[in-house]
Amino acid sequence: MLALSLDDECKIEINMTTLAAPIAKSLASKMKLNDGVEIPMFGLGTYRLDGPLIASAIEKGYRMLDSAENYNLATDYIDLYLLHAPQGGKCGEVYRALQEHKKSGKIRSLGVSNFGIHHLKALEKLGLDLPSVNQIEMHPWQLKTDIVNYCQSKNIVIIGYSPLAKGKKVDDETIIQIAQKLQKTPAQILIRWSVQRGLITIPRTSSEKRLMENADVFNWSIPENEMEILNALGKSPWSCTWDPTKNDLETAFGFSNQELESRSSLD
Ligand SMILES: NC(=O)c1ccc[n+]([C@@H]2O[C@H](COP(=O)([O-])OP(=O)(O)OC[C@H]3O[C@@H](n4cnc5c(N)ncnc54)[C@H](OP(=O)(O)O)[C@@H]3O)[C@@H](O)[C@H]2O)c1
Repeated sequence: MLALSLDDECKIEINMTTLAAPIAKSLASKMKLNDGVEIPMFGLGTYRLDGPLIASAIEKGYRMLDSAENYNLATDYIDLYLLHAPQGGKCGEVYRALQEHKKSGKIRSLGVSNFGIHHLKALEKLGLDLPSVNQIEMHPWQLKTDIVNYCQSKNIVIIGYSPLAKGKKVDDETIIQIAQKLQKTPAQILIRWSVQRGLITIPRTSSEKRLMENADVFNWSIPENEMEILNALGKSPWSCTWDPTKNDLETAFGFSNQELESRSSLD
């Protein structure tokens, strides 16, 4: 992840509706991570986006760009480095190496992605630092309340990915009804839901016009009643992508739960 932080004014209020987290008030809003570094609270997912579109997003005020190794931005500067998923059997070793890179200043902040509670607890049990961020799939059909609550209790910031469910839910009947009532687009309802839940969110679009539409989610809000209707969609969980948060410890760290119990470090 590349987070471009400027010194723009940022107003943050406490979210009283659903989660105990601050709410972004503009594209320039920032918050502090548990390592003291400030992070923009709204960003652009850049999966397969081209350079001019990304340049245009920065011009329009977007201040965080989420990227990955297989669609990277060809940059040599990274603010926040995320360990992509609890898989490969070497998460402890990889995380420890990244921690060293943070200490040496190569990485400013360190986080994880797609980590479940058991993975986060394992990092702690192994004597590794807590991540600053956990990036997970997040939209009304993926509330992941247990992970969100656990992360909040440990001061780990949640970044929600696929806030538009990869575009698969912009024609959902409930979303359309709420959009019509509030005179917003379905995409804006989904993105505002994330913002209003106190999540950092990174909607992706390849369209210039939608860059602005998707960022026009700050000077209005979804009434409590409609928030409850949206939250209720999560009672029937549905995922638009993979879900490695459920991977077992063996898959993530290369050893069993039982073995973890007997360890206090990686070695
Ligand atoms: N850590 C992980 O494992 C992981 C996994 C998945 C994604 N991510 C990150 O999260 C970012 C966002 O997630 P995502 O790309 O999966 O999906 P998303 O942001 O939920 O949805 C993107 C889709 O929604 C469409 N869309 C965007 N704005 C719209 C609008 N206003 N109206 C109607 N449709 C609209 C886009 O089409 P158009 O381009 O035509 O607008 C695109 O097809 C990714 O780019 C990536 O950076 C991370």
